[in-house]
Amino acid sequence: MPRTYIKDLINKIGEEISVSGWIDVRRDHGKLIFVDLRDMTGKIQMVALPSHKEAHELASTIRPEWVVEIQGKVNQRPEKMINENEPNGSIELEILSINILNEAITPPLDINGDGKEIDEEVRLKYRYLDLRRPRMQKNIRNRHKVLKFIRNHLDQEGFVEIETPNLTKSTPEGARDYIVPSRLEKGNFYALPQSPQQYKQLLMASCVEKYFQVARCFRDEDTRGDRQPEFTQIDIELSFSTQEEIIQLNEKLLIELVKNVYPEKRIQQIPFPRFTYKEAMEKYNSDSPDLREDKNDPNLLAFCWIVDFPFFKKTDNEQWTFTHNPFSAPQTTCMDDLMKKENIENILAAQYDIVLNGYEIGGGSIRNHKPEYLKKVFEIMGYDNERIEKNFNYMIEAFKSGTPPHGGIAWGLDRVMMILENEPNIREVIAFPKTGEGKDLMMKAPSEVSAEQLKELRIKIEKESKPAAAPASAKASASKKAKEGQKKK
Ligand code: AMO
Repeated sequence: MPRTYIKDLINKIGEEISVSGWIDVRRDHGKLIFVDLRDMTGKIQMVALPSHKEAHELASTIRPEWVVEIQGKVNQRPEKMINENEPNGSIELEILSINILNEAITPPLDINGDGKEIDEEVRLKYRYLDLRRPRMQKNIRNRHKVLKFIRNHLDQEGFVEIETPNLTKSTPEGARDYIVPSRLEKGNFYALPQSPQQYKQLLMASCVEKYFQVARCFRDEDTRGDRQPEFTQIDIELSFSTQEEIIQLNEKLLIELVKNVYPEKRIQQIPFPRFTYKEAMEKYNSDSPDLREDKNDPNLLAFCWIVDFPFFKKTDNEQWTFTHNPFSAPQTTCMDDLMKKENIENILAAQYDIVLNGYEIGGGSIRNHKPEYLKKVFEIMGYDNERIEKNFNYMIEAFKSGTPPHGGIAWGLDRVMMILENEPNIREVIAFPKTGEGKDLMMKAPSEVSAEQLKELRIKIEKESKPAAAPASAKASASKKAKEGQKKK
């Protein structure tokens, strides 16, 4: 018999059908055994009657989380048993036969509640079970709806989704790179992209005009509630665009997204208010202010744009560096200063951030599309010609080959989802996140690799050095520590 999804049972009253799923709860009343079954579409109350002897006997053995296939008859519930709060509250399934597809050990954590009281390390270790809880199912399924909406919307606006490599070259984006050793070119390394920034600009050189990507990005930085080493961007770039057009495009997409996927939510102000970086710092002492009128309202969304960021800031050793992105263009009024390398602290970038409820959910800029402009930015940061050529010659060459003016933006999808789902951190909206120490507790990554793998890559792990002249008694423990340290790597 073909499988019926639980959500469709309501239209099958009087029919014999087959359902498959997981045992949710079992209430044994002796003669009558009630079993709730769930699949990805819902829940149904089933009842095993003594008159179907074999099914009744099996029903007394099955336990929560076992996987079963049930043949049964859909019955209307007696009037007084109807539960109007449940989608299937007016029906129940009379069990005719049970086929046990797989048994389950007692789950090491409770998966029925919202899980917030459970130690997060336990939740992450058994993430495949943790994801069974209704809250996490909702989060991952809503994330899919959001992605689908964004993809459709951008497709209708003429954007093309293009994948760019994950094995690429180390480039400056402000964070530390994750690097991957090359087997074929021993001693050389790929870097995982901190964002597809340069590829998307090179796609503008390729006459794509309107690009987007749901892009995985990798940054080896300290993990926080709104930061993961591996995260997802909605990455967008378009040619012949102005800052105003990019702001309008994104504002429309965000408004439509909320209207369609989260209709219960209210956007506090449309059009989104805009502040210059200077205004935001003066007024809120923050470049990502939380503008909500009522911070207790879980359905209130306060977006704003922050514009006119300073292009450069000083590093600890008094060098100039970029505040956001070295590929940004200065505002047209500041172009003279950039080319003359004057008045550097006052050069403003054509750069914008989008903020939601106090979180930076995205940022972007209009780019330098002429080689001499890009070169000037790197010169201000103290790069000599050789270093610019070595690191960015392909960008410079592309810019010499008819690259149109262009600009773009990237949203942090995990942050957007965290806020839309009223979650306290982005781990709750990522299927398999890492801990604060960057660990995957379920897969136990990072982990050691075999001696053969290291040898093939010609990589040697440096042993932790022993303290110089330790007394004999301390030596044993120092060498033990060194071994432990080595093992951890
Ligand atoms: P930026 O570095 O500002 O810009 O990143 C864009 C957005 O990505 C999110 N984000 C993160 N989310 C989770 N974990 C992280 N570690 C993390 N780091 C950043 C933030 C941020 O606003 N290439 C440029 C974009 C452009 O100019 O088009 C870029 O990556 O929400």
